[in-house]
Amino acid sequence: MTRFLITSALPYVNGVKHIGNLIGSLLPADVHARFRRQTGADVLFICGTDEHGTPAELGAIQAGQDVRTFCDQQHAIQADIYRRFGLSFDYFGRSSSTQNHALTQHFYRRLDAAGLIEERELRQIWSTVDRRFLPDRYVLGTCPHCGFDSARGDQCDGCGNLIDPTELIRPRSTLSGDTALEVRTSRHFFLRQTLLLDELNEWVDSRGGWPPFVVSLAKSWLTSELKDRCITRDLAWGIPVPRAGFEQKVFYVWFDAPIAYIGATQQWAEADPSSRDWRHWWRQNDDVRYIQFLGKDNVPFHAVSFPATLIGAGEPWKTVDVIKGFHWLNYQGGKFSTSGRRGIFTDQALEELPADLWRWWLIANAPETSDTDFSVRRFVADVNKDLADVFGNLVNRIISFTHQAFGGRIPAGGQAGEQEFSLAGELGRRTATLRVHHETLEFRRAAAETRAIWSAANAYLQQAAPWTTTKSDPAGAAVATRTGLNLAYLSAVLAWSIVPSLSDTVRRAFGDNDVIPRWPSASCGVLLDCGAGKQVLQLPPLVQKITGERANQLAVRFGE
Ligand code: 2FM
Ligand code: ZN
Repeated sequence: MTRFLITSALPYVNGVKHIGNLIGSLLPADVHARFRRQTGADVLFICGTDEHGTPAELGAIQAGQDVRTFCDQQHAIQADIYRRFGLSFDYFGRSSSTQNHALTQHFYRRLDAAGLIEERELRQIWSTVDRRFLPDRYVLGTCPHCGFDSARGDQCDGCGNLIDPTELIRPRSTLSGDTALEVRTSRHFFLRQTLLLDELNEWVDSRGGWPPFVVSLAKSWLTSELKDRCITRDLAWGIPVPRAGFEQKVFYVWFDAPIAYIGATQQWAEADPSSRDWRHWWRQNDDVRYIQFLGKDNVPFHAVSFPATLIGAGEPWKTVDVIKGFHWLNYQGGKFSTSGRRGIFTDQALEELPADLWRWWLIANAPETSDTDFSVRRFVADVNKDLADVFGNLVNRIISFTHQAFGGRIPAGGQAGEQEFSLAGELGRRTATLRVHHETLEFRRAAAETRAIWSAANAYLQQAAPWTTTKSDPAGAAVATRTGLNLAYLSAVLAWSIVPSLSDTVRRAFGDNDVIPRWPSASCGVLLDCGAGKQVLQLPPLVQKITGERANQLAVRFGE
């Protein structure tokens, strides 16, 4: 049986993430992990905080804390938010773990032994005011590619290009604002990924199921223009470079961060060594299908550098099968930004509304093929319609009626007729389509099909209207009610991966307390006639509609 290894890009530890980060990797990874578990597959879903590099150091400086304390606190804060969002990681680890230290140094040694590490002298920016080198985000300036005036020394937020700090126009220190910067030399290690160019191209060509834009991005890197990558930095916080003369340096955050997928799996395994083995997932194994979820800016690291590390090490490491990349969720025409505190942050989102409302909208509008705009007005309209008017209404209406007319029990009696058979056929087909959308990682389509299933269920109930026939046709009313209840239950089961908490509430009303609801078997038609005599619990309104007043408050806090 295929096993699924699922990783979401590790969020930087510096500060609470925004909902753009959530939809760009964490949430779709969770939906897929949940879906696969529903189908009975063995799933390992790994994530964690990315704790090295300048984001962590700068975050700690801003917070007035030492880096370790800062990381400890921020890791715990993020872990708690993700738990409240229903993200079902098997393990939420840390790139600063001892496991990741050992693994990163191991990879460095293996790559070095394979002749893939080269020492080079590098021109680095030095600030006499700060009395230190200023790698990566320690320096800001104007992007040489697009002219954006706050490009960071590692990557431009304006155009996404990777940048070398010395390329920035009018550079300034992030720490002191010093503009009288010097260029000094420092010795560093490079990963000679150019030597693996052919192998990497063959490797990408041998994969399938990546979104076309991810393939193009990967291929655009894998040309003769590919550059070797510097994997060390003049920083104090990070994983030490095990080489004499390099005591003052650490590995570059982007070298150790993806290795932390393996490190976090080791953390997971060590929590229960009697039943877990990390090698089971990370050593080449045809039974494991490995899927990575990440934003488009992360593609070069996952499609080039990390595979170069794994392949170059010359050991049988498992490499990714599918990279599911995402475009941006835009906020008021611009990008969400953690450092700029621009957008809706995940903690604020949960202060306002239950997680499932956000989960639903974000998955239904996932930026899969292009950037997507968030707007409070659209969010409110969609959530009210899909979750309150359709799903919530379906569930509450039929359960309340069952209590009014049948003492809260699924009524027996009557025989399903043509209408029910044709509905069961339609739902069987729709359930199969939904399954395919999940399997092919098409999240918007999966949400649309889920919504279509809810709508078909609602339409049936609207038409069968058992509340109008209890006296005139009690057997018909029993069939319609029984079918309606089965539809509500089925709707909840099929939506579990996207709105787990709403789904659990409905399933519990039906006495289903399973942690993971099984994906329905192909005999969906039979399911619509189940459970006669079973008690169903009355439910308060499943989804509270967002009122106009509430919508205005949200618009005041988050913009229209
Ligand atoms: O872009 C980011 O948010 C990075 N922290 C993602 C790292 S993914 C992996 F390599 F760890
Ligand atoms: Zn730029």
